[in-house]
Amino acid sequence: MGVIARYREHLPVGPATPEVDLNEGSTPLVASRNIGRALGLKHLYFKYEGLNPTGSFKDRGMVVAVAKALEGGSRVLICASTGNTSASMAAYAARTGVRAIVVVPSGAGRAQGAPPEIALNKLSQALMYGAKVVALKGNFDFALETVRDLTSHYPVALMNSVNPHRIAGQKTAAFEIVDELGDAPDYLVLPVGNAGNITAYWKGFREYHAAGRATRLPRMVGAQAEGAAPIVTGSPVANPKTLASAIRIGNPASWEGATSARDESGGLIAAVTDTEIISAQIRLASSEGLFAEPASAAPLALLFRLVRDGKIDRDAVTVVVLTGSGLKDPEAALKNVEPPIELDGDARTLAKVLKL
Ligand code: F0G
Repeated sequence: MGVIARYREHLPVGPATPEVDLNEGSTPLVASRNIGRALGLKHLYFKYEGLNPTGSFKDRGMVVAVAKALEGGSRVLICASTGNTSASMAAYAARTGVRAIVVVPSGAGRAQGAPPEIALNKLSQALMYGAKVVALKGNFDFALETVRDLTSHYPVALMNSVNPHRIAGQKTAAFEIVDELGDAPDYLVLPVGNAGNITAYWKGFREYHAAGRATRLPRMVGAQAEGAAPIVTGSPVANPKTLASAIRIGNPASWEGATSARDESGGLIAAVTDTEIISAQIRLASSEGLFAEPASAAPLALLFRLVRDGKIDRDAVTVVVLTGSGLKDPEAALKNVEPPIELDGDARTLAKVLKL
């Protein structure tokens, strides 16, 4: 079952909305075995969004946005993306037989013929699903500005999270967490890039609370990367930099949604360094068996710091959202682990090398 079927009564869909799904959503909420214990947190969970059909949380919002675009008669879909949105849009466009155009940043100082600034596996997804991919010179913010400009002049449906149907679909992740825990958590910790997801989660928690499905609201805790932290510093970043390419964004479209979520919930948005991100990514994989992409490790890095600073109550229920699979960006991960041992030999030499 996809998110439209599961949460139909909470979504802007009706009898005229075409049925679309890839069985997205219903992702596992994995209880921590080791990190929670090490931090002294009794109730730490990971919402593993990497298990969505295209490997990220984007599928939740995309399925609703594509269904609504089809309902409105659109035949051409477009988005600007740091990779995951484009992979998701291309998949749902392929499934429903409409045209997909993807605009990804290729970087400001990029040499002719060099690869775009997005993770290779995300690019391969968009290409395999049959999208037309344009690597536009400049960063993500410029790509989004260009796509918004284009959709205001041509009959092409804008599928970025400024499309409210994306937010509507993405809020279902908050519903799932409440449905599984029986109430809202105390803290919801997630990465913030273009800021659609934090906006969507906050909307979801508020709606469920208003409907009597939860007795409380979580504090919303957002993590940005230090070189791409406009919401933390309070002003746009002209040239955002971080190895977490998914959140390499200098002027988030849902800026206000993020600050409202933060302020209304009594939460916070803070920045973590790339070094902290890498170390959280490795620790998550090697001590929990959960491989998430760098952007998804940013909230865990922030949690480590908040616990160290005594800012998280040990009895609190904390959910960290792992927004995308580690398989999305293996190149980033492989730079930071030991390479395989090269060996030409038999069991005895193998045992020797392994010091068994
Ligand atoms: N994590 C991952 C894996 C992402 O791909 C993104 C955004 C975010 C976190 C941040 O979410 O933008 O809603 O604040 N990726 C977008 C894209 C920008 O184009 O795929 P956000």
